[in-house]
Amino acid sequence: MAFTWGVSTAAYQIEGGVGEGGRGLSIWDTFSHEPGRISDGSTGDVACDHFHRYAEDVDLMAGLGIDAYRFSVAWPRIQPDGTGPANATGLDFYDRLVDALLGKGIDPVVTLFHWDLPQALQDKGGWLSRDTAFRFAEYAGLVAAALGDRVRLWITLNEPFVHMTLGYATGEHAPGQTLLFDALPVAHHQLLGHGLAVTALRAQGAAAVAIANNYTPIWPIGEGDVAAAAAYHALHNRLFTDPLLGRGYPELGLDPSVVHAGDLDTIAAPLDALGVNYYNPTGVRAPSTPDSPLPFELVPISGYPTTAFGWPVVPDGLRQLLVSLKEEYGESLPPIHVTESGCAYDGIDDPERVTYLDGHIGAMRSAMASGVDVRGYFVWSLLDNFEWAEGYTKRFGLVHVDYDTQVRTPKTSYAWYRDLIRASR
Ligand code: FCB
Repeated sequence: MAFTWGVSTAAYQIEGGVGEGGRGLSIWDTFSHEPGRISDGSTGDVACDHFHRYAEDVDLMAGLGIDAYRFSVAWPRIQPDGTGPANATGLDFYDRLVDALLGKGIDPVVTLFHWDLPQALQDKGGWLSRDTAFRFAEYAGLVAAALGDRVRLWITLNEPFVHMTLGYATGEHAPGQTLLFDALPVAHHQLLGHGLAVTALRAQGAAAVAIANNYTPIWPIGEGDVAAAAAYHALHNRLFTDPLLGRGYPELGLDPSVVHAGDLDTIAAPLDALGVNYYNPTGVRAPSTPDSPLPFELVPISGYPTTAFGWPVVPDGLRQLLVSLKEEYGESLPPIHVTESGCAYDGIDDPERVTYLDGHIGAMRSAMASGVDVRGYFVWSLLDNFEWAEGYTKRFGLVHVDYDTQVRTPKTSYAWYRDLIRASR
């Protein structure tokens, strides 16, 4: 099977058009409009105006020569209140996008939840409520009924770890709650929603189903930090992988009453692929005070170049991660797609991004050479876009966006990725 080269985006980060086509409010509309939440005071109201300019953006993808485009569907476009029948106008946008992609020979890869929960569901508890899992499966079925004949791969959730942690535990992301370990039911309800959605998607004849997790290799800083590293590994990596692959939950203190009979079987529904989003390793040490509420402390990794986000550039971390997934899960590990890999740098001439991508693609290839089954690589991102709490200050695109004029300008890295794809044919 040919390797899949692609790019990734997410609805709230690029679409804009927030008041159009009957779209309801999402938690990111609410959150980004609250003073002090977004570093540059911006919102996703307009973003890259992709809602109106999608045809131009598909042309940019065609120019890259990608095989597949990973985008997300905005749940509140389909169910403005998070429940009930599909809003036909909302579906119509994705219907046109999918046809435009196929018209250029690009396969659609659809993420169903990239963090923009309908506000009406948040008002009933969001992912702290078990009911949200059932609402999610209902929504998944509606989208699959409309697009399922043309979508090559479905991704249920994007990075449930990041959504739980930043959204519900520490509050930097929507919905902005600060529950620390009391956020753990959000993990279970997202995973249950995933499992129920797998069933709903398959009932509609879905071609293939996956989930995209954020993974990080954990680096203990010193010899005394191994237990702390294991604790963080359980939370960041294993919590969202062990139950999917039939191993139940690692010991983290999740209230057992949250997990109902049969849930673990639902969550362990067979997957066609595992999406891996990788940005950097995480340095961990033991807590410096005995009364620390957490069994670990995160420490910056030093000795590596950093991106404009301050994230360390460690290409070999991707190789380590892929190899360790294979070691940890063996035969139960589904084929992998690297569903996000990329970096923030300014400038249209962006040699640093070329170096970054070249290093990470090389690291992925070396994991493949040692036996890891990787089927695809998706650059985050096609366009500069709304980088959540960082607003428009961090630019991840292969294509530069001037937010005043919406003019798109391919960067040096765009030409480099195009040439790499061409050469690999
Ligand atoms: C990931 C998110 C994606 C983007 C990148 C930089 O965690 O999935 O939307 O923000 O980080």
